[in-house]
Amino acid sequence: MEYVSLSHGSGRMPMVGLGTWTAKDEEMEAALEMALQNGYRHIDTATDYHNEKVIGKVLERWIKDGKVKREELFITTKLPVYGNRASDVEKWLKRSIDYLRCEYIDLYLIHVPFGFAKADSVTFDADGKVALDNETDHVAMWKELEKQVEAGKAKAIGVSNFNKKQIKKLLAVAKIPPANLQIENHIYLQQSDLVQFCHANKISVTAYSPLGNPSLQGFFSKLGITKEIPNVLDCPEVVEISKRINRSPAQILLRYNIQRGIAVIPKSINSERQKQNIELFDFKLTDEDIQALRSLDRGEDGRIVRFEFFKGVYDHPEFPFKEA
Ligand code: A2P
Repeated sequence: MEYVSLSHGSGRMPMVGLGTWTAKDEEMEAALEMALQNGYRHIDTATDYHNEKVIGKVLERWIKDGKVKREELFITTKLPVYGNRASDVEKWLKRSIDYLRCEYIDLYLIHVPFGFAKADSVTFDADGKVALDNETDHVAMWKELEKQVEAGKAKAIGVSNFNKKQIKKLLAVAKIPPANLQIENHIYLQQSDLVQFCHANKISVTAYSPLGNPSLQGFFSKLGITKEIPNVLDCPEVVEISKRINRSPAQILLRYNIQRGIAVIPKSINSERQKQNIELFDFKLTDEDIQALRSLDRGEDGRIVRFEFFKGVYDHPEFPFKEA
């Protein structure tokens, strides 16, 4: 395994982690068991994925059985959108630690820059829109996160889905600058400017949906959202490289981000696919292949997750993304 540097905390994070968004509880237990057997030590979850309890159960079992030590694990979780206020940070972090049964979190992220009304889950207005809290104050929240680092509850802190302007605002005041930005990142949405900005400021970057999350098509249609999700895994240029160097399309996509210095958290509940997704360090893409993949960027048009499942969220003053 290779690592990316973190500006604080343990100082390093495994470049490949297990993504867990959309994994159902009954799948999650077996999937994590397999992943740990397959060598995964970095696990990415969130309060709002509703799977922390089952993840904690498996981790506790592995630690009790002496199969892994707590310090060998790297656990990331996230403050939920309905807890996006300074006064709620401690409560949600404590709940994550309890559910994950792990004493501290290796990396605690603010999940999204916008905020919803105080609640225990996402709530909706009478007209079906998410109940917004327009007072979201990142600086006040950040100060609270810093206190949690000082208290030893979070080793490192960072943000997810923030744009450059929002990160700059934190950098201007932070005693402990963000160690990580987690964003959607794959060949169709490369965000090179944002990635370079982060790296120049010693903020590591993690790519979510690094395989273009093919399962989201079904998830969106169930919610009545008509949006064509590009099939990143079937991209002809990726398939061509994959055949030529005898690696799977997923490995090409993941390796591309690794060579850009970006950590990846592919989600898989299948043991063979999990193995593929972590076997990324015994081959390299050539400069020519890198150039070819770089040219596939579609900018904002390539974004898969624009939070379209939160009706009305685009009205929040801190919605982070530009119009496509
Ligand atoms: P599964 O969990 O059945 O393996 P992302 O990480 O971009 O969010 O994508 C996750 C989706 O990609 C899941 O539907 C997952 O299905 C699928 N997936 C994960 N790894 C691979 C792989 N190596 N090849 C093809 N599909 C994969």
